[in-house]
Amino acid sequence: QPLVFSGVQPTGNLHLGNYLGAIRKFVALQEKNDCIYCVVDMHALTAQLVHDELKEQTRSIAAAFIASGIDPTKHIVFNQSKVAAHAELAWIFNCVARMGWMNRMTQFKDKAGKDAEKASLGLLAYPSLMAADILLYRATHVPVGDDQKQHLELTRDIAQKFNIDFTAQIRKTGKGVDIKVGDEPVHAYFPMVEPLIDGPAPRVMSLRDGTKKMSKSDPSDLSRINLMDDSETIAKKIKKAKTDPDGLPGETDGLAGRPEADNLVGIYAALSDRSKADVLKEFGGQQFSTFKPALADLAVAVLAPINAEMRRLMAATDHIDTILKEGGDRAAARAAVTMAEVRDIVGFL
Ligand code: TYM
Repeated sequence: QPLVFSGVQPTGNLHLGNYLGAIRKFVALQEKNDCIYCVVDMHALTAQLVHDELKEQTRSIAAAFIASGIDPTKHIVFNQSKVAAHAELAWIFNCVARMGWMNRMTQFKDKAGKDAEKASLGLLAYPSLMAADILLYRATHVPVGDDQKQHLELTRDIAQKFNIDFTAQIRKTGKGVDIKVGDEPVHAYFPMVEPLIDGPAPRVMSLRDGTKKMSKSDPSDLSRINLMDDSETIAKKIKKAKTDPDGLPGETDGLAGRPEADNLVGIYAALSDRSKADVLKEFGGQQFSTFKPALADLAVAVLAPINAEMRRLMAATDHIDTILKEGGDRAAARAAVTMAEVRDIVGFL
């Protein structure tokens, strides 16, 4: 039985990268799957944030989920800190994961900067908590942007090591399945999660520099389109987006070595649920002066209703708080099943 899980951090404003790399995929997946979507407020503590902001940010991510079309009555939407089992399983995974694995995480190296000695232990352990988020529900599929790939590989490594280390205990519970790791018979409790990173915009790039990821932390606001930007701002940012002097190619091969052009075509494709090849069939041979206004119109048509609904939801927070509370209760009930088994497997009395 497939189960989809993903999370978004309540740090700073959501941008088009978060929307196309993650949230838009969450919405598509809910049609055919059981889904759990989490606002990972415990992860947000690894960044600097004062707590008043954290509450508002947590609500605004939940509002973005709902405004984008996620149905919280059919699926689970909650904030991570409501279910303490995330922290409990993360502790067990801290004892499964190896220091060498954590030290290789490129996101840790980027965020810790030059002086890693001064980074918090939480920042280093971040991916172990992320593995716990997913495996607490024994989720099988995780829609994310390309930047989370390494973290999901680590999640698979943690699941595999747990399954191998505790295989005899897992067998006793009768809750695992027989698999082979190499020639070794293993009784696996945690599934090997599949990352869902596909689509035309797995990595949305900065509008000012096609070689840099669009990110919340870029000092230039012109580098990104925020979900809360109004229509005029969106149009202005697209108009000012960096491009090269050539027009659009007729085929995707022609985008090679042209990161800015590739990025804008990818964004158009993702926003219209088409492939890049298909978009180029329509716009190939045209100049950016015709393509950019078309892209701006499309972006506004998709984002303006989400923006309006987010504002409506954020105006009275009771509704969002109720959704998160009910989602938290349902998530906690599912998490309790896994934790009872995991406690038994690791030998807690
Ligand atoms: P976060 O909060 O940084 O980003 C949320 C989602 O947005 C994607 N994303 C992008 N996709 C395409 N282009 C971009 N420029 C771009 N920027 C961000 C991210 O890949 C992500 O999918 N560690 C996670 C949160 C997390 C999580 C989890 C995710 C915690 N536990 C369990 C999945 C499963 C993060 O920091 O995402």
